[in-house]
Amino acid sequence: IPVEPFDLVIFGGTGDLARRKILPGLFRRFRAGQMTPDSRIIGAARAPLDADAYREMIRQGIEEFGGPESKDSESLAAFLDRLDYVSVDATVEEGWPRLAALMRDGVVRAFYFSVAPSLFGPLAEKLHEHAIADVDSRIVVEKPFGRDLESARALNRTLAEYFREEQIYRIDHYLGKETVQNLMAVRFGNLLFEPLWNNHYVDHIQITVAETVGVEGRGGYYDKSGAMRDMVQNHLMQLLCLIAMEPPSRFEAGAVRDEKLKVIRALQPVPVHHIVRGQYDAGDGHPSYREEAGNPRSFTESFIAIRAEIANWRWAGVPFYLRTGKKLKARHSEIAVVFKDLPHTIFEGDHARHRNILSIRLQPNEGIDLTVTIKEPGPGGMRLIDVPLDMTFSEALGQEGQDVPDAYERLIMDVIRGNQTLFMRGDEVEAAWAWTDPLIAGWEARNDVPKLYDPGSTGPDDALMLLHREGRRWREIKA
Ligand code: BG6
Repeated sequence: IPVEPFDLVIFGGTGDLARRKILPGLFRRFRAGQMTPDSRIIGAARAPLDADAYREMIRQGIEEFGGPESKDSESLAAFLDRLDYVSVDATVEEGWPRLAALMRDGVVRAFYFSVAPSLFGPLAEKLHEHAIADVDSRIVVEKPFGRDLESARALNRTLAEYFREEQIYRIDHYLGKETVQNLMAVRFGNLLFEPLWNNHYVDHIQITVAETVGVEGRGGYYDKSGAMRDMVQNHLMQLLCLIAMEPPSRFEAGAVRDEKLKVIRALQPVPVHHIVRGQYDAGDGHPSYREEAGNPRSFTESFIAIRAEIANWRWAGVPFYLRTGKKLKARHSEIAVVFKDLPHTIFEGDHARHRNILSIRLQPNEGIDLTVTIKEPGPGGMRLIDVPLDMTFSEALGQEGQDVPDAYERLIMDVIRGNQTLFMRGDEVEAAWAWTDPLIAGWEARNDVPKLYDPGSTGPDDALMLLHREGRRWREIKA
C-alpha cells in the first residue's frame, strides 16, 4: 500500500549514510510501490551540484549498495526522476529561498537531518525562517544523539524550540530490524512465554551484539565514542527495553515508549567490577584498534561487557549481561533468556544441569531457538539430553532468499506514515544517558585501560570471568 505523497528533504544528501542506506532503501520502497508517483526526494548539501549531477551520484550509490534490485535500470531511472537537489549551507542565506519554492502544499513534508548534531539547531532555524517546515512537518535525526546527558538535553531543547515532540523522529536503526520487532511479537503475541518472563523463572538474560568489522575509516568518530556510546547507550539499551518492559496496553507510540522509559529508569548503577572494557590488538595481519583509530595512546573500548540489573518487581535479582564488540569471532547478535534450574529432578542418576533457554537470533540467520530437555532415544533407560527446537524465520515462512526491507527503509516509511512507535522519545534518550554517564565518568576518572583481545576472539578473558564467577557462562558466538 503506498504511503501518502511526500516531499522528503535529506540534509547531508551527498553523505555516506544517504548514499549507502537512505537512498538505496527509498529506491527499494519505490520499486515495491510504496512511494506514490508524485512523491519527491530532495537532496540538500553544501556541494554546488545541479540535479543531474546529484542523480548521477545517487545512481552510483544505489548500484553499489542497493543489492540486486539496482539492476532494474528502468525502475532506477524512474526513481532518479523523483530526485532533486538544492545546494544550501546552514550558515548562509543562499539556496534557502529556492528550497522554500520547491516545497509543495498538501503533501507530507519530512526533513532528514543526516548531518552532525551541531547543525540541528542552525538547520531548524533556517527551516522556520523561510517557512519551509510547517506545523505538521516531520524531522528525522540520526545518532549520535548527544555524547552525554547534558549534550542530549541541549539537543532536545534546541529541537523543541522549533518542533513539537510529535514531529521529531529520533532514529535507532535497531528498532527497524525485522527480528527486533519480532521480539515484541514473540512476547506479546504468545501466551506461552509471558507467564515465565520474570524473576521466578528466569535465571539471567544475555544480550550479545558481536561484529567482525573493526573501526576502519571511522576511527575519528569512534575513538571519541567507544562501544558504550556507539552501541550500548542506544542499540543494546533498546533491546534490553523490549525484552524487559511490561506489556504496553496497545502497540502504539505513547504506550510502548512509556514502558521502555520505565525500564531505563529502573536500571541500577553498575559497580566497577561489573564492567569489562576491551580493545582489539593486532593479530593475523589485522591492524590493532590503536593503529586503525590513528591514536597510539587510545584508551577507548572497542568491546564492552556489563552486568546490569533492573530494580523492579519483575526483574529484581536477575542479571542482564550485555556485551558488544568489534573484530570478534563472528557477526552474531542474539538475546538469550536462560531459565532457572528445575526445582527437583525425578530422574535418578541424572546430574546434568538441564535448562530451558530461549534464544532469539537477531542477525544473521534470524530465528528462535528453544532448548528443551528430552529423553535420549534408545533402550539405555531414562537418560536426558538437551536439544534445540529451532526455527529459522525465513524457512518457517517459506521466504528463503527473499528480500526483507532493511531497517532504514522501514523506518523512513514510518516517518511518512506518522508512526513514532519505533523511534526514541526525547525523555528515553536522556534517561539512557543518565544511566551511561556515571559509568563512563567512573572509568575515565580511574584512567582505566581496556584489556587487549585478539581479533577473531570472543573478547577479553575478563568478560568470561564476569559470568564464570557467578557459575554462569556466555553463549557461544558462532557464525
Ligand atoms: C552503528 C554503529 O550504529 O551500528 C556501528 O555506529 C555499528 O559502529 C553498527 O557497526 C551496527 O549495525 P548493524 O546493523 O550492522 O548491526
